[in-house]
Amino acid sequence: MNLKIKHLFKALLVLVALPIYGQQGGMWIPSLLKGMNETEMQSLGMKMSVQDIYDVNNSSMKDAVPHFNGGCTSEVISPQGLLLTNHHCGYGQIQAHSSVENDYLANGFWAKSQAEELPNDNLEVTFIVRIEDVTKDVMSGINPKDSEQVKQSKIAQNIAKTVANFPKESYQENKIKSFFEGNQYILFVTETFTDVRLVGAPPSSIGKFGSDTDNWVWPRHTGDFSLFRIYANKDNKPALYSKDNVPYRPKYFFPISLDGISEGDFTMVFGYPGRTQEYLPSFAVEQIVNDLNPVRIGVRDSALKIIDEYMRAEQNIKIQYASKYASTANYWKKWIGESLGLKRTNAVEAKQAFEKDFIERANKNKKTKAYADILPQFEKLYKEITPYAVSKDFFTEVALRNAELLSSAWKVFALEKSFTNATSFDNKKASIINSQERFYKNYSPKVDEKVFEAIVSKYANEAPKEFLPSILKNADIPAITKEIYKESKLTSLEGLKELLNGDAKQVQQNLNNDKGYLFAKALFENYLQNILPKYEELDLQITALQRTYMKAQLDLYPDARIFPDANSTLRVTYGKVDGYYPKDATYYEPVTHLEGIMEKYVPGDYEFDVPAKLVELYNNKDYGQYAEDGKLPVNFIATNHTTGGNSGSPAIDAHGNLIGLNFDRVWEGTMSDIYYDPSICRNIMVDARYILFIIDKFADAKHLIEEMKLVHPKNK
Ligand code: ARG
Ligand code: GLU
Repeated sequence: MNLKIKHLFKALLVLVALPIYGQQGGMWIPSLLKGMNETEMQSLGMKMSVQDIYDVNNSSMKDAVPHFNGGCTSEVISPQGLLLTNHHCGYGQIQAHSSVENDYLANGFWAKSQAEELPNDNLEVTFIVRIEDVTKDVMSGINPKDSEQVKQSKIAQNIAKTVANFPKESYQENKIKSFFEGNQYILFVTETFTDVRLVGAPPSSIGKFGSDTDNWVWPRHTGDFSLFRIYANKDNKPALYSKDNVPYRPKYFFPISLDGISEGDFTMVFGYPGRTQEYLPSFAVEQIVNDLNPVRIGVRDSALKIIDEYMRAEQNIKIQYASKYASTANYWKKWIGESLGLKRTNAVEAKQAFEKDFIERANKNKKTKAYADILPQFEKLYKEITPYAVSKDFFTEVALRNAELLSSAWKVFALEKSFTNATSFDNKKASIINSQERFYKNYSPKVDEKVFEAIVSKYANEAPKEFLPSILKNADIPAITKEIYKESKLTSLEGLKELLNGDAKQVQQNLNNDKGYLFAKALFENYLQNILPKYEELDLQITALQRTYMKAQLDLYPDARIFPDANSTLRVTYGKVDGYYPKDATYYEPVTHLEGIMEKYVPGDYEFDVPAKLVELYNNKDYGQYAEDGKLPVNFIATNHTTGGNSGSPAIDAHGNLIGLNFDRVWEGTMSDIYYDPSICRNIMVDARYILFIIDKFADAKHLIEEMKLVHPKNK
């Protein structure tokens, strides 16, 4: 046993009783796997080397994993720049190309040749060329005695300087991100392609099968994928869209395994997880479970119930609200699962046990003076910030998200606040009208009025009284609602245009005569004056303290498996294919099959309908080379630690072949953003063979299969 493993082993023995730094989970920096993870990955069955994953001098897997439009992940799967991501990641593009005659969301889309591939506005993919630690440069000249504000501004200057000076090609970009809450800074040299065309998408009855009912749920049966292609100029470099552009020749692309997975197999997921908070103190977790999640869930509960009733009753409202409903419901459902999971796994108690150990270690290591004050400080700050945080979440959920008239007013409010000169006023006005044109297309004042009444009442009754605007105190909300929706011009695009008609002075007058606007403005001003400043002041102190706490953990637990929280940078997570026990006496197997789709099939249902062609393929067992033991695998789960942003990430086998496409997590384990418990945290992937089957057998797009490289790593 080498020294490093011995240390690791010793640390793990201690940590078994302290499940904070688990033996599994983690989202690791691809350039640092060598020292930290390689041995563990090999012990889990990995057969490749970490250079195959990340290499600066030679092509490696990282060259095939671009960030997809900043929010999702994607991977290159052919020498001609063919790109795979989720259906829900390409949803906006598929929707944008759809019309009543050509409804690609409903019917799917398959380009028969490259000439038919559809260009997209506002779509880009970004590759990582190089990853460099620049902590020294970013921290230079920082004095520990500086105030937090001074530190932040020096850091910002150093970042700007380093970004400007770090060597790169003209078509590349430098970006610096903070890791370990500002204890480490890493620079990424990136390359962004903006000519990315839609190649194929299954119908929603495959790509979104199960919709919101099945979202965050296992067992799952969703074919959540879509295909794009990256185009480059003749020199294979990023270029704006041109019909002369050619398919990008990637430095690397993934071979796809036809041999699939078995329980216990090594798997790795490579992508851009957005945000986790794994190192919070117990007080913060208590705040999330007891105070913040209930507010967010409660407001969305009311809003979603009302919208759902209308959507079920009226077809045009269903079309208008489907996408908004899905996005509001996504995190609503996640928070419910998260709170349940945090309670069920006693996350707060686990954190408290860890904190006890932390203090003991600090004493033993003679760091009492440096670290003993951290936890009491946290306790005090979290106590102080809670009413502000609760008020802020109420305000955000009600005014900025779910009462649409108020969120429309927020845009106009920003305009009123920023009257500067005539040109910029006109420009801003035009841009608001432009963006609100889209907004009002999908807006129903009738639905919004009901939502407004319900959630504004909730806000007035349940938010901390001392931070309520006076118009909400002892107010007759139903009467106010009626009046606003009868009189305010903010309920339609024409009305908005009327309000914004004229010069700055005129517009100001118009606005301040509008009942809806005045009500909204009272909420906004109360938020900006009585809630936000104090919240930000306390939050800044918490951020600074969290940085010290993080540093202390790295210092006191040098051998523990501590990874930096997700921050939308490229990470590797690994684990194994594994089922789990969601509740007493119930075991969930790790793989689902086409049989399960047929079990869930409800003809004509908007969530569980199945296309006739798929039923026919099932009846004929026409699975081609994609079946295993006569059955077609659809989805599978593993212990990879993923989060939002990992959608579309490649799932990779021990040899580096693509075996699946990440798209979700299981309900019982959604608390893994805060507390990863290996017994119930699982990520959900589409089996690569189901994707190939849909492309080949369902869509008959054989030319796409031909440009891929299909392999048999298990010699099956
Ligand atoms: N839960 C997944 C994620 O967080 C999928 C969301 C899209 N699907 C849906 N039914 N809303 O993005
Ligand atoms: N569906 C998520 C996404 O869009 C991934 C699921 C998760 O949060 O793990 O990134």
